Amino acid sequence: MAQHKKVKVAVIGCGTISKIYMENLTTKFSIVDLVGCSDLISERSAARAETFGVKQMTNDEIYDDPEIEVVMNLTFPEAHYEVSKEALMAGKHVCVEKMMTVTMAEATELFCLAQEKNLLFGVAPDTFLGGGWQSARKYVDDGLIGRPISIAAVCTTNYSPNTPLFDVDPDYFFFPLHPGGGVPYDLGGYYLHNMINLLGSVRRVSGFGGNINPDRMYDNPHHPKYKEPFRVETETTIAGALEFENGCVGTILFSSDSSYFDSFSIHGSDGVLELFHPNFYSGDLILKRIESEPAPKFAPPSPPISQGPFVRGVMSEYKLPMLHGYLENNRGIGLADLAYALRNNRKPRVDAELGYHAFEIIHGINESCRTGQVYEMTSRCERPRMIAPAALVATAQEHMLDD
Ligand SMILES: NC(=O)c1ccc[n+]([C@@H]2O[C@H](COP(=O)([O-])OP(=O)(O)OC[C@H]3O[C@@H](n4cnc5c(N)ncnc54)[C@H](O)[C@@H]3O)[C@@H](O)[C@H]2O)c1
Repeated sequence: MAQHKKVKVAVIGCGTISKIYMENLTTKFSIVDLVGCSDLISERSAARAETFGVKQMTNDEIYDDPEIEVVMNLTFPEAHYEVSKEALMAGKHVCVEKMMTVTMAEATELFCLAQEKNLLFGVAPDTFLGGGWQSARKYVDDGLIGRPISIAAVCTTNYSPNTPLFDVDPDYFFFPLHPGGGVPYDLGGYYLHNMINLLGSVRRVSGFGGNINPDRMYDNPHHPKYKEPFRVETETTIAGALEFENGCVGTILFSSDSSYFDSFSIHGSDGVLELFHPNFYSGDLILKRIESEPAPKFAPPSPPISQGPFVRGVMSEYKLPMLHGYLENNRGIGLADLAYALRNNRKPRVDAELGYHAFEIIHGINESCRTGQVYEMTSRCERPRMIAPAALVATAQEHMLDD
């Protein structure tokens, strides 16, 4: 098959994450031709344009350029709606970083707008396309843990103005402390995309928590606002329960109020798979099995890394081999997949259906925290098609996205 015509892309939003995106989009994915970038702060777009050899543009120049087919929206969450809407209205396909928007009403409007205009609309995070997550999906689908029963995620990290994360510049906009930020949105999206990738749609959710710690103080003596009060305007700690359509259940605990901790695991009738932090594209996949239990249909593909006595026999741990490519920091793989979707006339794996469903889960849990009622999900989403396993070397791995 002849090579596809490259898809011309422009980035809007040249902040922190744009560096790795633009590096990957200019070196890693042959389907993408990154041509320009813009930012409200022109020094930022000028610097990125120079580093990556693309054109510094304004948002309007990007919208008006008929050659540009896709806008990669890397603005902070409160600008996602405006920039994605403008780009869709200009007839561009759009890929937006997580989460999709800040409110459910905005998300619904954009979702419908993309459909009306017959444009592709992709939503990050795209880490679930990394080799670690695709391998986890294959092991679970092949029956390595038997029948999946439940999934659990805990992610806590302290987003407070006294952490080193918080810049001493008073004008610095640290989006995790604003609407659509906080761990439930900023990191929660990674866990939810991966839960949906592994287990499919969620039917009902409930939760407790909310913005439990809104009034804080600048307590960095180097900050010009030292000892001034500060108000956090997003949900900070939520505990949620999820009921999947396939009958599995899940729990999440996301907090930007407490110290760092993370854990993620999926539990089946024949074993437990310990997963890794879904902010990353790969990591350790550890299978835990009690050997005295009935032999699984799918034998572990590697010898145990540890074995020890357990109350009902012997507990073994296996470190599972990776079965797919894209193991390193692949920000932009979702956009590359969307570009292949455009050329091959298929649905992107990061289709907005997934981002919208993940967003509604957080929204539903927040609603449940507020009302004390169980929230019935209105959206459904198919599990994104698995990438074919093939640990192809170096640049050949891109072949697996061309399907
Ligand atoms: N920082 C990370 O480590 C990280 C990792 C993964 C994903 N993300 C996601 O990437 C997105 C951006 O995060 P970031 O950390 O780079 O944020 P950032 O605040 O560093 O950068 C956002 C940039 O968008 C620009 N911007 C805002 N509104 C705009 C508009 N209307 N037009 C043009 N430019 C506009 C800002 O001036 C800023 O330079 C967020 O959705 C975030 O969730 C961030």
